[in-house]
This record gives sequence, structure tokens and C-alpha cells, in this order.
Amino acid sequence: MKVWLATTDGALEAALGAVLGAPAHGLRTFGEAAAVGAALDREVPDLVVLDAREPQSGSLEVASRVRVHPLGSTVVLLALCDSPGTAAALLAEGVDDVTTSLAPSALGDRLLVCERRHVERAALAERRDAGRDAASALRDVVAHLPDYIVTIDRAERIVFASRGGPGGEPEELVGGLAVDHLAPEQRDKFRTAFAAALATGQVQSYEADSHGLPWAVRVVPVHHGSEVVGVTLIASDLSERRRMEAQVRRTDRIAALGTLAAGLAHEINNPLGYVMLNLTYLQRRCGEALALDHETAWLRDAHGRLESTLEGVERIRRIVHDLRVFSRGDDGPLGAVDVVAVLDSAVNVLDGAIRHRARLVRSYADAPFAWGHQARLAQVFVNVLLNAVQALPEGGPELGEITVSAEADARGRAVVTIADTGEGIAPEVLGRIFDPFFTTKASGVGTGLGLWICERILAELGGEIAVASEPGRGTRVTVVLPAVRTPGATSAPPEGDRA
Ligand SMILES: Nc1ncnc2c1ncn2[C@@H]1O[C@H](COP(=O)(O)OP(=O)(O)OP(=O)(O)O)[C@@H](O)[C@H]1O
Ligand SMILES: [Mg+2]
Repeated sequence: MKVWLATTDGALEAALGAVLGAPAHGLRTFGEAAAVGAALDREVPDLVVLDAREPQSGSLEVASRVRVHPLGSTVVLLALCDSPGTAAALLAEGVDDVTTSLAPSALGDRLLVCERRHVERAALAERRDAGRDAASALRDVVAHLPDYIVTIDRAERIVFASRGGPGGEPEELVGGLAVDHLAPEQRDKFRTAFAAALATGQVQSYEADSHGLPWAVRVVPVHHGSEVVGVTLIASDLSERRRMEAQVRRTDRIAALGTLAAGLAHEINNPLGYVMLNLTYLQRRCGEALALDHETAWLRDAHGRLESTLEGVERIRRIVHDLRVFSRGDDGPLGAVDVVAVLDSAVNVLDGAIRHRARLVRSYADAPFAWGHQARLAQVFVNVLLNAVQALPEGGPELGEITVSAEADARGRAVVTIADTGEGIAPEVLGRIFDPFFTTKASGVGTGLGLWICERILAELGGEIAVASEPGRGTRVTVVLPAVRTPGATSAPPEGDRA
């Protein structure tokens, strides 16, 4: 035990030393009581023995100074005094024990009591420090949770906040009224849940829009014994969940449309077959009759009409074919895909929309094949082409140009470029166009999922997509697709093999 003694009395020093069995206990003597207080800033003893018999010993001041010292909580104070009045004053000032006798047995007893008390205090302080560490670790965790956690007392005042308001510290909220930080339309909901939580002791929950975001709020009663002394409010941002729900709804809708389209296409395909056969037959017979010089006005007219009808039916056949490509629910195994054929299907699907806004230029250097799923690649090309169409003003094909090109690169990968002369993309927006739900289009026109889906499909297939744009001049989207795998080969041939 580290013992400090404040006295000028050599007899006391000797008596204490004898009882302690110095020097093992490291008794340190201070002639002036005030020196104890000063030394405390550098070192902390376990026990301080104050000689309060001496006139102007300053023991009272030292006792009060040790008690308020930040490190003084484990220090035990023992005072030697000779009057009951002084003893009472010393005990009131925070001295733990007093003795009036210098006799070794009396001093020994007091020291034993003081030692036990020090051990208890040190253990308590350790537990308190551990508790403080755990509480501060917990506070750090809570501060980094995505949820807002606020504890509120029965008077609706904030007792704890995990995070501050905009630009502020959490402590700044403490003491204020909780409702002052809620949007006016939130207050009734909060008050109802707050009152119910206090009255019933049960967790309450509600949903609310605040600061432009949807929130789920839980109001958890805080108990002290059997009494509810307040609530902890946990507010979670629901935006991400709402987005995911919207996406699932959209995906469901697309899947349902796909099934419907596949069913329709199948039903139309059969009658379409014999309609085409019969029309072709009739047109041929008209042609033959005309050739045999059975020319009459009506025959020539019928021949012409059949020809245009056949054109129309051929267009229906193409659309039905494309619908079947798009709606194939099961993508089936990966395989070699004719990139140009898929591109043409995508162009056909959007043919009407393209014709209202742009000239279409196709430039197929060769006919590359790629490794993938026909339906999924078609989805990529339609999304990109639709963006190109939507970037151009409506009003006629002379207003813009959309160029679709396909070629193979040196590594055998198919490179497809879809470029438009539309409005382009502002540089500050370019970094966000692949984010889900990022759109610059009016609601109902775009959901901001097109490019995100493209990127995901290509990532799964092992392809890439890149967008370059010049505002006011146009946009160029480049899609690189993995090369067709030949049996036995594990990867594309190294660069240079074919270069
Ligand atoms: N060819 C393009 N020209 C100009 N802007 C484009 C072009 N392609 C994409 N963008 C920009 O990128 C954004 C995101 O495109 P994305 O296809 O992901 O969503 P969207 O077209 O807005 O909606 P969705 O495709 O879901 O109907 C668009 O809103 C637009 O601002
Ligand atoms: Mg789009």
C-alpha cells in the first residue's frame, strides 16, 4: 500500500513506520499538509494520513482537495485528531476514518480498515471504468448506425441523441423538446405513439414522411423498475426498401408482360402461317392471270392490294418473331449469339419510334457472334436504343441520326456501338447514369433502370458498357461482348494472336 503522511511530528512518523513495516510500504512524509495536494497531480497514493492535531495543519483543505481531485476517488483518508469537534468536521469534509491514538494496536486496526476500504474502492473504480468504456463503445456504435436513436423523457425532452441535426452535434439536441425537431405533420403521429407507449409500456410504431424521405419509427418505452420513465425513438430510413419494392413490382410486371407476350405471339403465329400461305397463293394466281393477259382493272387492283397486304403481314410476322425473342422466360444455356440479328430485332421493335425522330444508319463491318443469351442481349440493345430515341426531338427522321454498328475487335469480341445526335449528357450527370433510379426524364417517361439493368446483364455475361457524350452534340454507347468460346478453350485467345 502506498501511504503518504502529512505531519511535522517525528513520533507519529515513527509509530506509523513501525506499524506499516517500512520501507516495503513506501511511506512518504510531507512536512506541510498543503504539499500533499500538490503532489497528487503527479502521483496517486492509496492512503493519506493527515495529522489534524497540529495547529493550522490544513487537513480540512487537503481532505476536500483530495475528494474533488479527478484521480482521488480511490484514495482513503485517515486523520489523527484529538478533539471530537475536529473529528466531525474532518468526516464531513470526506475523511474516511479518524483515530485519536498513536498506540500501535489502535493504529494497526485503523490501517487494516483503511486498506480494506481502498481495495473495495479500487475494485469499484475498475468496474466503473469498464462500464464507461463499454458505454462509450456503445455510443460510437449507435452514432454510426444508419438509424436515428433518440431517448426522450416523460416531459418530451431529449435526453440522448445518437446523431445531431443538420451540421450539428448530438449534444446540441439534448434538453430540447423532441417535437421541435419534427415536421409539423409528424407531431400528431409522434404524440399519439408517445402517449400510448407511456400508458401501456408497449412498443409503438408508425410510418412517416419527413425531410422528403419515408421513415419507419418505433417508439420503445424506457423502464425504470416498473415505471415507464420515457421512450427511445428509433427512426429508420425506408427509401432503400421502397426502391427495392418498386423494383420488384416493376420486375414482376415485366415478367407478367413477358408471359403474356409469349402467349400472344404463340397464338398469333399459327393462324399467321396459313394467312401468309394463302395470301402468297392468291397473289401468285393473280400474277399468273395477269400474265395470261386476262387483264382487267379489278385484277390489277387486287394484285396490288395483295402485295401491300403481304407486306403488312410480313411486318406482323417480324414483330411476332421479335416478341418471342424478348419474352423467352427461360434464358436457356449460354451460347453463340448472332449479334447483328439481335441488333436488328431490337431496331425492329423500336422501328416506329425511331422513324419519328431519326434516320437510322446501320454499319455492320462483319457479322460478329458473341457469347451470351439472345433475349438478354436484346434487352440491352433495346434499352440503349430507346435512350438514343428519347434523346432526340420528335418531328421527323430528318431531325437526327442514330448509328448502329457492329464489328469484332482483335480479340474476337463483338463491339456494338449505338450513337445518336441527340441532346447529350451533362458532365456532372455522366457519373450517375448507371445508378439505379437515376433519371433526368419526366416521371412516366423514365424510371432510371435502363442502363443499370444493361450494366448488370453485361457484368453477368462478362461484357462491358461505356458511355461517352458531348452535351448538345450526342451520345455514343459502346457495348463489348465476350468472344464465342470454342470447345476446349477456356478463355479468349491472347491479344496479338489474331492482330
Ligand atoms: N443516349 C442518351 N442521350 C442522352 N441522355 C442519356 C442517354 N442515355 C442515357 N441518358 C441519361 O442517363 C439517364 C439514365 O438512363 P437510364 O436508361 O438508366 O434511365 P431512363 O432512360 O431515364 O429510364 P428507363 O430506362 O428506366 O426508362 C437518363 O435519364 C438520361 O439522363
Ligand atoms: Mg432508359
